[in-house]
Amino acid sequence: MTQSVKIQAPATVANVACGFDIMGFALEAPHDELIVRKTNRPGLRLSDKTGLGLPLDPRANTAGQAALALLEHLGSQQGFELEFTRKISPGSGIGSSAASAAAAVFGVNLLLGEPFDRQGLVQFAMQGEAVASGSAHADNVAPAVMGGFVLIRGYAPLDLVRLPYPKELHCAIVHPEIEIRTQDARRILKQHIPLKTAIEQWGNVAGLVAGLTLGDLGLIGRSLKDVVVEPVRSVMLPNFAQVKRGALEAGALGCSISGSGPSLFALCDGREVATRVAASFRDAFREMEIPCQTYVSRINELGAKAVL
Ligand code: HSE
Repeated sequence: MTQSVKIQAPATVANVACGFDIMGFALEAPHDELIVRKTNRPGLRLSDKTGLGLPLDPRANTAGQAALALLEHLGSQQGFELEFTRKISPGSGIGSSAASAAAAVFGVNLLLGEPFDRQGLVQFAMQGEAVASGSAHADNVAPAVMGGFVLIRGYAPLDLVRLPYPKELHCAIVHPEIEIRTQDARRILKQHIPLKTAIEQWGNVAGLVAGLTLGDLGLIGRSLKDVVVEPVRSVMLPNFAQVKRGALEAGALGCSISGSGPSLFALCDGREVATRVAASFRDAFREMEIPCQTYVSRINELGAKAVL
């Protein structure tokens, strides 16, 4: 019986502009890599080969907490070791903590003979996410586990919907070297919005789902607008309006903050446009003398996976 697996779990873009806490999609790069081993000694132990100084107390670690949630749910006494070998930069806004949580539950589940399907694993990964962000939202963990575009129709009970999407969609990401903690980015949000604003946001969410389903890129572009969260959070991002304008001028269908930032994402029609948009992102941050990394990626269809 298999005793050890190496798992990769992808970076993800949460919110997708208008869908705060209810929409997310998976990227092909970057990803987390985690080795999951069964041990004879009961309990969960963590080790870190990434050099990032990750917390090794399982309850204080997103992967650890997610794995414990799964084991406790099953009442399993099986011991496990989680070894981090590759990590998306924490605080980047592309689902670093979600990728760890997704990799952990995916690996543990695999070594236990798959008592849960991918969808069933999301509830445990969410508990890991809560360690990092103070809130058990699923818009990063669901696509990290399940791949593709995921809509969280509801949280109580959790109702996850895999959305179809046009295969030519590519994403350009820029991760500037600024750290924004999700907890802080959530704390500054308004708890109430005017009905007029809500109506605009509902239209965009519905438009985005329709655009993805119909493969209507124009509709997707028109719907990638966030009138609730982006206006509040964008003040934390230097020259946000200008960087976004540059991406749209380079041909992006739409551009917004990825998750709670500081990364920005832009959805594009094809790799060529996405590559041009990534270059516009780099130029913008070079001008501000802020180091950044860019990624160009298709939507990752699979989500977490075991690798050799
Ligand atoms: N929906 C979350 C937020 C994603 O924007 O706060 C980041 O974890």
